[in-house]
Amino acid sequence: MTEQLKQIDQHVVQWLMQMKQEVPKMLADMDLQTKTSRFDLVTNVDKSIEQSFEQLLTAQFPEHQLYGEEAHHDTEKLREGYTWVLDPIDGTANLVKQQDDFCIILALFYNGEPVLSYIYDYPRQKLFQAIKGEGVYLNGTLLSPPPIMALKDSMISFNNKVLNDETMHDLLDASFGYRLIGACGLDSAKVFTGQFGMHIHTNAKPWDIGAQFLFAEMLGLKMTNFHQEPIDFIHGGPFIISNPGCYEQTLEILLQKGGYEK
Ligand code: IPD
Ligand code: CA
Ligand code: CA
Repeated sequence: MTEQLKQIDQHVVQWLMQMKQEVPKMLADMDLQTKTSRFDLVTNVDKSIEQSFEQLLTAQFPEHQLYGEEAHHDTEKLREGYTWVLDPIDGTANLVKQQDDFCIILALFYNGEPVLSYIYDYPRQKLFQAIKGEGVYLNGTLLSPPPIMALKDSMISFNNKVLNDETMHDLLDASFGYRLIGACGLDSAKVFTGQFGMHIHTNAKPWDIGAQFLFAEMLGLKMTNFHQEPIDFIHGGPFIISNPGCYEQTLEILLQKGGYEK
């Protein structure tokens, strides 16, 4: 299995490096549209990346399925065989408003289990890569699990619009400080490296968190819903990724005052 994964990985990394060259050109020609509200944005860049990945699968791995944010929502057989989960641009609002802090989130599942994962920070050209049975890498260098960190010593990250005021202040008081990047993949990657103690997304879509399953497993992090239960990769939902040292106290605070909305 590992050899086969390494071969698939080579194609994907090559494709990501091609996107690295092409995305700046796409950005120069960006066309912006709204989806469900004026805050829900999509661009031709998001759609083109997803199309390009679909083409890669058709050419190299025709039996692999694609579950992608922009155009691939059929969920019928996703637990069978190979399934890719793709968010072509996570942080589209950041892309549009700041031209910074956006990434791709890409993950391969085999019979429902995560086996390959990628988060690529386009502007900083940082590739987080996880290969089941092999290792986790940041730009090719092996990444070790972060040290165990207490909540009081950790930076934490959550969307402040969806937590009630009391819960939010309790979390702020219990932690070292607060930062939000605004791209679920990049906020999560800060937990991989120990820069954040945890990240919460109260209503994660499957493509916001597809890659995080394998990174969490291989880096000894906690990734569950807010009741310490596993998250289904096809449905997403309330999500925490956390350093083991921050996890229980965070959930206790989050739940004690009925703290969040979906
Ligand atoms: C968004 C980002 C953001 C999160 C939103 C997501 P998108 O993804 O991950 O951090 O707060 O809920 O929708 O729309 O930019 O792919
Ligand atoms: Ca997203
Ligand atoms: Ca997206």
